[in-house]
Amino acid sequence: MRKKLVAGNWKMHGNLKENEALLGALIAGLSEPENKASYAVCVPYPYLTLTQSKLRGSAIKWGAQNVSQYEKGAYTGEVSVSMLNDFGCEFVIVGHSERRMLYGESNKMVAEKYLAAQHAGLIPILCVGETLEQRDSGTTKQIIDEQLKAVISLAGVDSLADAVIAYEPVWAIGTGKTATPQQAQDIHHFIRLTIAQQNAEIASDLTILYGGSVKANNAAELFVMPDIDGGLIGGASLVAEDFIAICQAAN
Ligand code: PGA
Repeated sequence: MRKKLVAGNWKMHGNLKENEALLGALIAGLSEPENKASYAVCVPYPYLTLTQSKLRGSAIKWGAQNVSQYEKGAYTGEVSVSMLNDFGCEFVIVGHSERRMLYGESNKMVAEKYLAAQHAGLIPILCVGETLEQRDSGTTKQIIDEQLKAVISLAGVDSLADAVIAYEPVWAIGTGKTATPQQAQDIHHFIRLTIAQQNAEIASDLTILYGGSVKANNAAELFVMPDIDGGLIGGASLVAEDFIAICQAAN
């Protein structure tokens, strides 16, 4: 049985005071011992120290939103996997559509980041998804297949035993326009089938999150779908009571 996961993606939001308060509220709201789901927050780099010191020993795990594909060296402004390890990160988001679109990350680069994360023992949350234009032109599955295959050809299908995939239709991110549960389910099922063609067991155990305007009022109907194993939450992860309600929907 796959365990549900709800991960927050804070993006470039907050400050020291606000983020400390948010973490405190999450700890208080997500402390019940009978939690069936897992929870995590992916925070901006400068707040990893704070996050580690606040969340250590709590029910909430943490991670980063991006990482370099390189181990170390002259890469101004970049952060390595071993640096994330220094701060107890469990997860790192790779290939978020904002990284792909605004910072030109190719499928190949995303695959390299995924591999680097896994080599360091981090769990990559690999984001895939189509733009509105791609959906309208009927190429959604082809795009997602290419995004998946780039990772599988570099890291191998077995690597997905220690990874999470997030299906995030670009048109649903931050727009308030959520995919319907059935639209999301269809693509999640497609992702699982694509992987099952190479390894059925890994496909059936794989956690596939939905991301794109998940809110407290639509989380339950998404999470109940058979191939949706939780969510990657942007905007609603910045408001403690909303994120807690989404986590409770996953329970
Ligand atoms: P959103 O963002 O929940 O604000 O749509 C999701 C994401 O980008 O991961």
